Amino acid sequence: MEVVITDGPAAIGRLVADAIDQVLRSSEAPVIGLATGSSPLPVYQELIARHRDGAITFEHAQAFLLDEYIGLPEGSPQSYRTFIEAQLTDHIDLPNRALDGPSAARVEDASAAGRCYEQRIAAAGGIDLQLLGIGSDGHIGFNEPSSSLASRTRAKTLMDATRHDNARFFDGDTDAVPRHVITQGIGTILDARHLVLIAMGESKAAAVAAAVEGPLTAMIPASALQLHRHATVVLDEEAASRLRLDTYYREAFDNKPHCQGI
Ligand code: F6R
Repeated sequence: MEVVITDGPAAIGRLVADAIDQVLRSSEAPVIGLATGSSPLPVYQELIARHRDGAITFEHAQAFLLDEYIGLPEGSPQSYRTFIEAQLTDHIDLPNRALDGPSAARVEDASAAGRCYEQRIAAAGGIDLQLLGIGSDGHIGFNEPSSSLASRTRAKTLMDATRHDNARFFDGDTDAVPRHVITQGIGTILDARHLVLIAMGESKAAAVAAAVEGPLTAMIPASALQLHRHATVVLDEEAASRLRLDTYYREAFDNKPHCQGI
């Protein structure tokens, strides 16, 4: 796993946008996995700026979302599709039909919907680069602690801590945060060719340390990145503050041959 410690959101935005830019240029049908939440926002702002400058195009790309709430009315401002449209895709030239996400009206529909979603990802050729955030409990996607490391897209029940964390998108009302979600499984996420996990802030430091330096365990779903051949963890100083090998990660990145990309 490559760990990159940066001096903040602007550097994270540039570094990860460079990696996405490379995917967009190196494939005729690039496939990007998008995450919602606060962590990827510096990347989305950088991508929008580069698109406005004419430096990148998403014309031939496809994008897949990690997860979605179950039970929100269609078009709800809190839905992850609406979020990603507002934060990214309304501002770039990704065709409307090229944005896909898991969705299920009811928990009972999620298994079938999950299977179809996996087929659509496979039909696109698989995901070239998957963006990830990390929950303060170590979740990725909405795979809460104890999720199977081999899981595929399906319904999950959110833990109260995650609903509390996400209440900021629901006017601070934890009860308004849906209890059920449909999410790519950890096995689904591991199928992507490059995983890029972004974490910022002290509140993520313990989860990051457990995921990067702790044992592989279903209790820290993000520790599954240890199994991946090409996983990059991009951090600010606060999120990196509990890493024991931080000096080593900095030296390794600074001495990377040829370039300092990820
Ligand atoms: C979002 C997602 C979640 C978030 C995580 C961190 O699509 O799957 O795993 O990445 O909850 O959220 P933020 O970035 O808001 O701290």
